[in-house]
This record gives sequence, C-alpha cells and structure tokens, in this order.
Amino acid sequence: MFSVPAIPTDRLPELLRRMPKAELHMHIEGSLEPELIFALGQRNHISLPYASVEDLRQAYAFTNLQSFLDIYYAGASVLIHEQDFYDMAWAYLRKAAAENVLRTEMFFDPQTHTARGVSMETVIKGLHRACVDAQAQLGVSAALILCFLRHLSEEEAFETLEQALPFRDYFIGVGLDSSELGHPPEKFAKVFERCRNLGLHLVAHAGEEGPPAYVWSALDVLKVERIDHGVQSSKDPALMQRLAKDRIALTVCPLSNQKLCVFPNLGDHNLGALLDAGLMATVNSDDPAYFGGYMNANFVQTFAATGLNAAHAYALARNSFEASFIDAAAKRAFADRVDAVFESVASGV
Ligand code: HPA
Ligand code: ZN
Repeated sequence: MFSVPAIPTDRLPELLRRMPKAELHMHIEGSLEPELIFALGQRNHISLPYASVEDLRQAYAFTNLQSFLDIYYAGASVLIHEQDFYDMAWAYLRKAAAENVLRTEMFFDPQTHTARGVSMETVIKGLHRACVDAQAQLGVSAALILCFLRHLSEEEAFETLEQALPFRDYFIGVGLDSSELGHPPEKFAKVFERCRNLGLHLVAHAGEEGPPAYVWSALDVLKVERIDHGVQSSKDPALMQRLAKDRIALTVCPLSNQKLCVFPNLGDHNLGALLDAGLMATVNSDDPAYFGGYMNANFVQTFAATGLNAAHAYALARNSFEASFIDAAAKRAFADRVDAVFESVASGV
C-alpha cells in the first residue's frame, strides 16, 4: 500500500500540475474559446450577436445553469464541417496533454448540431479523428461519450441514438446533460435501458442544481456508473452512504459550480467533505472555455480556496483513473505513474 509522502503546502501547486490525471467530465463544445468561435464564424460565414472576442467574453457572467446554456448553444452554432469539430477537439486535447491529463472521456452534444442540419457523421468523424491523433501524437488516451439533451424528449433521444449507431465503435457511452431542473433522469428510463443492452457505458448529470432525488433516480432507474456533478448529494446522508458503499464516482467541477453560482464562493465548495466522507470524487473542468480554467486551474484554485492537502490530491488523481472506463491493466499502469510523480515531487526532483 502506497503511503502519500509529506509535501509542503508551497509545493502543492507544482504537485497538482505535474500529477497524472484523467478528465471524466468535459463537454467538448464547452472548450470552444472565444477566439476559436470567432475564427470558425468567419471561416463558415456565420455572424454572431457579439461585436468582438472581448464583447463575447463580457457576456460570460452567469447566474445559473440556464444562463450559461443559452450562450453555450449560441457559441456552438459556428461548427459546421468535420474539420471544425476536429479543430475544436484538437485544441482541447493539446491543452489536456500540456496539463498531464493522460486520459480524457469527452462529452459531445450531437442534438445541438443535428438540429442545425449538421449530420451525425460530420460530428462524430471529426471528433473521433482528433481522438486517434491524440493517442498517436500527444500520448493522450481519448474517448467520446454521447450526451442526450434532457430538455428535449425521450423520443428525440431515441432518434439520436439510432443516428449514432452506425458509429457505435466511435463512442464508449452515453450521458445526460442540459437543463436539469424539471427534467429528472427517469424521463430517459427507456433509452438508457436500450443503451445498457447495447453494452454502452452510462453516466448522467444529476445533483448539480437538482435535488438528491435526481441522483437516486440516476442510480436506481437509469443505472448509471458515474454521477456527473452530484454535489447536492451531501444534503442526503443516506445517499452519501449509498455512493460510498457502491464506490460510485462523482465527477465534480469546482470552477463550474462557482461560475454557475452552485457554490458562489469557491472556499465553500464541498469537495473536501465528499472526499473525507469516503466518496470517489474527481475534479474536472466541465466547460473550461466558459468557466475560467482547464484541469490544473480547477485543481490549483480549489486547493488554495478550500485548504485541501497532498493526501486529497493523491485520492483525486487515483480516483480519476479508477473511475474511468479503461481496463484494469491500464488503470494499474496509470496508478503507478501517479505514485512515481508523488515520490519525485516529495524528494524534490
Ligand atoms: N450541466 C448541464 N449541462 C451542461 C453542462 C453542465 O454543467 N455543461 C454543458 N452542458
Ligand atoms: Zn457538465
């Protein structure tokens, strides 16, 4: 059993940046930086309701999830061609590689694009090609998770699944995102059952703004393997016990929670409480171009604001690989790389 070496607080930021990590909750459309939105808008002759990059960035003052989603869907309107999807994913994957993200399971929202007349094939092929190049050129293991938009109907989710099945080998699972309140997980019970029978991995956003009841139904009705966000679970002690007992991972996104006013003050975030209660929490960036930071900004700012320590960092790094959808041998290999970096930072190397 590896014992976490003592690492002084002033070396925590270095440790957090250097430690190998997996990202399990990142919407690829949320990695579109304002500069790329404008560049793609010009390339595709799509005009935006913002005068400049600065003007767009100014609009990133969110009060809740919906106020963000309205701008996020508008930003994605510049994506038309397969190369656009490739360029977006490649820009993110290069940043991930630079931040020691060795594995990433990226969400994409096909309905945001098919509703505008962009084909499923265009979306998936562009994203998939970037994943293949990431492994070959960056050494980053990358996979895709198709998300259904929960503000739309289950029937539309079924249609989306049918459109995606010719590309079944290009995505590893399905998720559920968009407006949470009023759209409980059980609305998608049948389509998740079908996905489970197809052997797809299952995840769902639950307990970001929604109540613990949504986390329960994501587990018991949808039978998901991970909960995206899940931070509202701390309001329900029985749910906390269930999550700990079944080692259900929560893909927590601290800067997202701060920017969408779930925890307006980062210092009040419950990440430490979730870890200390024995839950398999992880840290993720959600929509990094909109929320002020990629993985390492999430780690460094959250640790500084909440006073987490090297043992928390170790748990988060190990949890991220343990909760990922890679095989047991790959998990062991990544865990060894985590241990090696903790040892070398502790010894001052
Ligand atoms: N929550 C729900 N839907 C989303 C999010 C989120 O944080 N980001 C992109 N779509
Ligand atoms: Zn999300």
